[in-house]
This record gives sequence, C-alpha cells and structure tokens, in this order.
Amino acid sequence: MKKAITSILFSFLIASIFISCNSNSQKEVPLNALIPRPNTVSAAIGAFEVGRKTRISVLNHKLNSTAMVIANELKDAIGYELELTTSASAQKGVINLILNDSQENGHEAYELSITHQEVVIKAESPAGIFYGFQTLKQLLVQESGNWFLPSASIEDQPKYSYRGSMLDVSRHFFDMEDVKQYIDYLAMYKMNYLHLHLADDQGWRIEIKSWPNLTTHGGSTEVGGGEGGFFTQDQYREIVDYAKDRFITIVPEIDMPGHTNAALASYAELNCDGKARELYTGTNVGFSSLCVDKEITYEFIDDVIKEVAALTPGPYIHVGGDESHATEKEDYLKFINRAQTIVRSHGKEMIGWDETAQANLSSTSVTQLWASPDFAREAMSKGAKLIMSPATHAYLDMKYDSTTNLGLSWAGYIEVDKGYSWDPDTLLSGITREHILGIEAPLWSETVTNMDEIEYMIFPRLAGYAEIGWSGVGDWEEYRQRLAGHGAKWAAMGINFYQSPKVDWK
Ligand code: ACM
Repeated sequence: MKKAITSILFSFLIASIFISCNSNSQKEVPLNALIPRPNTVSAAIGAFEVGRKTRISVLNHKLNSTAMVIANELKDAIGYELELTTSASAQKGVINLILNDSQENGHEAYELSITHQEVVIKAESPAGIFYGFQTLKQLLVQESGNWFLPSASIEDQPKYSYRGSMLDVSRHFFDMEDVKQYIDYLAMYKMNYLHLHLADDQGWRIEIKSWPNLTTHGGSTEVGGGEGGFFTQDQYREIVDYAKDRFITIVPEIDMPGHTNAALASYAELNCDGKARELYTGTNVGFSSLCVDKEITYEFIDDVIKEVAALTPGPYIHVGGDESHATEKEDYLKFINRAQTIVRSHGKEMIGWDETAQANLSSTSVTQLWASPDFAREAMSKGAKLIMSPATHAYLDMKYDSTTNLGLSWAGYIEVDKGYSWDPDTLLSGITREHILGIEAPLWSETVTNMDEIEYMIFPRLAGYAEIGWSGVGDWEEYRQRLAGHGAKWAAMGINFYQSPKVDWK
C-alpha cells in the first residue's frame, strides 16, 4: 500500500464531491470529511445503496466476532440489521469483509472499495477490517430515507502503533456503562489503547481479592465526597473484552508510590508510622507515599500487580510514578526499580509517567511524557520508547479557554486548534520519530463528574488526537473543514460537544 501522497490527493477532495443518488438529486457526501485522514482516497462517480436486502459477507471464521460488532454498529447507524452471509464474495449488493494473507501492510492497514455494485473491505487482520468499517460508517449518507455510500477507493494504515486516551476513574468514578461508551468513542476514531487510571489518593477502583479493603473502604468515596465505586474483577474483565472486540487494549494504571492515599487509608501497615490515613476527597497532589522501607509494601505491590496482570491480556501495566513529592528521591528510585522488576515478573512491561525515567529503566519499559522533556530524553537514552502526552497540548482536562466551566488550566488553555496543531515527532528537541510509540490524550477527572461532562471535554479534541495518531498532524485550516461535518454527527448521537468558535459547524 502506498503511503504519503495523502495530502495532495486529499486536497483535491476538499473541493466538493457529489454523488448522484436514485432520486436524481445531488448530495454532498462526506468523502472530504473523514477523520482520521486516510492515506489515499480516490473518488469515483456513483454510489452503493445500503438497503434492507444488503448482506454482509464473511468468508473467514476469524472475522465472525468482528462481523457481529460491525452488524450491530451498522444497525445503530442506519436503523436496521443487515444479515450476515458466508456465501462467496464479490456479489452484488454485498458488503464483503475479506481477510487476505499477505503481510505487506501491517495488521491495522485496510483497503476499502465502494462501487455501485459492491463494497469490499480488505485487510490482513480483523483489526484492519474494523478500521475499514469505521471509515465506511463515516461515509454513510441518507437521501430520501435511503442510505448510500459514495463510490471510492481508499487505502489506509496508521502512523503510530499506540493511539490512546486515558480516563481517570479514581478522582470521580465512572461505571462500566460509561467506560464502554468511552471505548465506543475511541473506536469511532480508530484509537487502540484505553489507559484506565484505577487508583489515586481519592479512590481505589479495581477489586483486589487478596487486599479487599482497598475497594470496600478505599473505593467508597471520590472528589467532593460522593460515594465513589469500583469495578469487580468480573466487571473489569467485561470492560477488557468489550474493548478487545473493538481492537482496544486496556492499560491499567495503579499509581505509586505517591497518589496512594486510598491504599494508605485502607491498610494501616502500608504507612511508615503504621497508622491508617483518613480518606481524602480534595484535589491536592503530592502528599501521600507508600512506605518504601517496609517489605510489606513490595508484598502488597506484588499481590496487586499479579492480580491485575492476570486480568489484563495487554502487554502493559502502568505504575504511575508521577508527583511522588512525599517520597525521598533515593527511595523513589529504589521503589520504581523494584516495581519494574515486579511488573516484569508477571509477564508485563512497565509504563510510567516521565519521572520514572530516572530509575534503572529497562529498554522494554515505556515512558509517558507529560511534563518533562528532560526525563523523556533520559528514557530515550536508556532505550525506552515514549508515549507522547504533553500536558500543554494533549490533556483533555485542560479548559478550552477562560470561559470553560469544567477542567483545569495549570498547563494552559487548549483550544481545538492548539490540541490539533502539534507534531509528536518535532514538538520537543531531541525527541524524534524512532523513539515514539505513539500518543495518548489523558482525561483527568477532578472536575468531571458524569458522561455529559466527559463528552464536553473530549469532543471535539479527541478526533484531533486520533488523527495525529493515525495520519500524523495535518494543516489546521484543512482539518477544521473536515471537523465541521462531525458536529452534526455528534449532535445526532446526542453527544454534548464543545461548539468551538474556531470551527464553522455545519
Ligand atoms: C500527571 O498529570 N500528574 C501525570
């Protein structure tokens, strides 16, 4: 599959493209509004009509579960379910899902071909088929009650292998249904990692069977004093499976040695003075620390990571490691080194916030840049890869401007144009493409309490982060025109998005 040349081809498409539908009316179609921007798009005359008789053809059993997800999502989009068929491909009136065996383009690549007669999504893996379908979904247009897809040929593959977002379920707890909704939003834009911030000062949100008080006591409140909550291990597994069906890997974070008041309140023995702390419902940071000199601390971490690793099929466990201001530096380094060993002993690789780069980092560990380019460069020098989450550009909890009611502003305001207009490969000197695994946009929840508020903070910025991750950054003026079309889609879905004045919403 050819890479690049996208932008040239794409700018051709910005000039309006029209299709001719059965009704003889002409309708602008969203070939010029795809997000993330595909590698190559060629438009053709005509359209494929999606109707009640349209079938989804699945010839390879490896696609069965993906086809079910696709059929369900299509039903949500068009209002009725299409039948799945296992008869031969390339038939008229059929959406063909085809796995090819070549290993040329990477497992997330896809080709989407739409003609008057048929639709073909071809990929090397079910993930590629799913991404091709996400593109298809964005192309659906309704005309006189019927659904159409514009004739086109698209070849596409992602730039980065890690395209993520983080949801903080600790400061305010969000239940399984909210997390599934969040996963759906990531999937719409071809993101493939959801980092769950599962433990912090204000709440412990994942059941640990060997330390049950973590959730029964440590999960019982949240910022502002609400009742909090937690995921049972069965619920967490259900989230993992739901995400997996949408090609999203869960990265669980247990923040340590700081940000641990909920644990320190649940078990007195984790404190150096042997006294349990009070539960905390404020928003200060940097005041708590596990007792680095006590052996029980490492038994605790080993138990926690063993249980979380067993529930998590993905390759990573995130150990936080940020803002451990109440831990002496020497203790901090000793602690992170041991945490890394424990994570690896359970068959996972460690991700840590950028402070963890000061430890004896394994070249297989990953450092998440949020604040310190120096720490990120230190991680690079140790061979570790980077996830780019610069707070000044990628934090979804930063206010859009001074009038935004929700969110914080310690890293500045992040309007939609600022959130979009940065290149992970060039933002920070000395940090270049070969060191970067991908990007992640974190949503911290000190001020965010429900799904409406989550939506307001993530839309429209999430679409821009997804594009940076999949396509690489592009031109803001061109992007904002594509973005404009997504507002109506979000409104139709009932999404409470921020109607930024930087975009001429349609
Ligand atoms: C962070 O924002 N403390 C990683």
